[in-house]
Amino acid sequence: MAKRNKIAVVGAGNIGGELAMLVARRELGDCVLLDIPEKADFARGKALDLMQTGALDGFDCTITGTGDYKDIAGSDVVIVTAGVPRKPGMSRDDLLSINLKIIRSVAAGIRENAPDAFVIVISNPLDAMVYEMKKQTGFKAGKVVGMAGVLDSARMQLFLAQAAGASVRDVRALVLGGHGDTMVPVISNCTVNGIPVTELVSKDKLDEIVKRTAGGGGEIVKLMGTSAYYAPAAGAVVMAEAFLRDQKRILACAAYLDGEYGYKDLYMGVPVVVGGAGVEKIVTIELSAEEKAMLDKSAEAVRGLITDSAKL
Ligand code: NAI
Ligand code: 2OP
Repeated sequence: MAKRNKIAVVGAGNIGGELAMLVARRELGDCVLLDIPEKADFARGKALDLMQTGALDGFDCTITGTGDYKDIAGSDVVIVTAGVPRKPGMSRDDLLSINLKIIRSVAAGIRENAPDAFVIVISNPLDAMVYEMKKQTGFKAGKVVGMAGVLDSARMQLFLAQAAGASVRDVRALVLGGHGDTMVPVISNCTVNGIPVTELVSKDKLDEIVKRTAGGGGEIVKLMGTSAYYAPAAGAVVMAEAFLRDQKRILACAAYLDGEYGYKDLYMGVPVVVGGAGVEKIVTIELSAEEKAMLDKSAEAVRGLITDSAKL
């Protein structure tokens, strides 16, 4: 009998709910929304609300809510959004210690119940959380990946499209490095239908866009009082789809580096090929001396987070 894919989403909050919606609308498979036991009814309610949307939207995927890890058994993909989003005034360290504890318990649940899944981590601080997920699950590097570069690149894509007066569909943008202030928007790789953006947008405007991209998450937190959720969910769904449909897409993802770009034992945003085996390849691209220096700085910042995590 043909079997539908199963996608588990851990954390039924803002990103989790939007993820389940996108998974269903794209007919990627059935979806399980898992939250802490105290919020199992909340997850069930959200799942029911989403299922009722299917009658209007015309999808017939099953979405269920739960507080029990046994229900994620057999998942092809697990997307982890569990954690606290950064609120205005909350320090990076506060977020690190709270979310680290959460990721450790989530990793145990995944390891025991969905040992063959492709795991996409979204929780922040992203690069440290995905590193911890790999460490705690013991899964192969290609089966544990972090979502951030896709989102940061999408933000840059929009800003470039607006500056160039072009359709966002024609713009290609690439953001590498850690998901924080030190991320590296790679202007030398940004094009509008093959035309270098440097030929269409002024240097001053590009500098502004680089800055705005690096602060893209904070800009939304300041406006909404919580972090973004539509685009982060869309980013993770692109990655899940690339895996489930073996699309071999080249996407900027936080991947485990074992010497690539000169970094060892680190997760950070780099271009990778995502296909049916997970992260199938890390793509090494030419960077200018200035871009490589920025990437070194970003790697240092991520290394600091990982070192701090090991002490907590
Ligand atoms: P939210 O607060 O709306 O949802 C988080 C959910 O996780 C809550 O329902 C909470 O009960 C649940 N949760 C907490 N501990 C759990 C556990 N041990 N097991 C299962 N579920 C648990 O937060 P939102 O907006 O969905 O954000 C989720 C995370 O994603 C945050 O850490 C946020 O900073 C991060 N984020 C990352 C982005 C990226 O680019 N990587 C972009 C935007 C947000
Ligand atoms: C974002 O980039 C804050 O990581 C979150 O929207």
